[in-house]
Amino acid sequence: MEKTFAIIKPDAVERNLIGKILERIEGNGFRIVAMKRVLLTLPVAQGFYHVHKERPFFKDLTEYMCTGPVVLLVFEKEGAIKAWRELMGATNPADADAGTIRKDFAIDLEKNSVHGSDARDTAAFEISYFFSQTEILS
Ligand code: CMP
Repeated sequence: MEKTFAIIKPDAVERNLIGKILERIEGNGFRIVAMKRVLLTLPVAQGFYHVHKERPFFKDLTEYMCTGPVVLLVFEKEGAIKAWRELMGATNPADADAGTIRKDFAIDLEKNSVHGSDARDTAAFEISYFFSQTEILS
């Protein structure tokens, strides 16, 4: 069973969308195997997004991710990584397909409500960045 990692970002938590997003996740056949609600510190956000550190949006992105609580999640199903990316929709909600989470809930490219791992290696890194093995209960 493939696992992926997700974040419900500050804009969605602030607008009380945790339940609606979890409903989409479970309703699409994913099993949530780990979850916590935390306030990220800047060094933690910078470490998480280190692959983007040379990008012009890195400072704004990492500061934004610390503006309020986020929900960190691990969930699984067959082909979970690709399936979660499809359910999220395009990074920019303006480009997202109808029925995707970002189309329905996201505000803009930065406040895009959810994050998801883009490949197996990034999923492994992102899961282990926030969760120990004993916190993941399949
Ligand atoms: P996420 O999936 O969390 O991965 C990196 C984030 O950077 C992305 O979602 C966007 O919220 C944010 N971001 C801001 N500007 C850009 C950009 N120009 N291109 C891609 N991602 C961006």
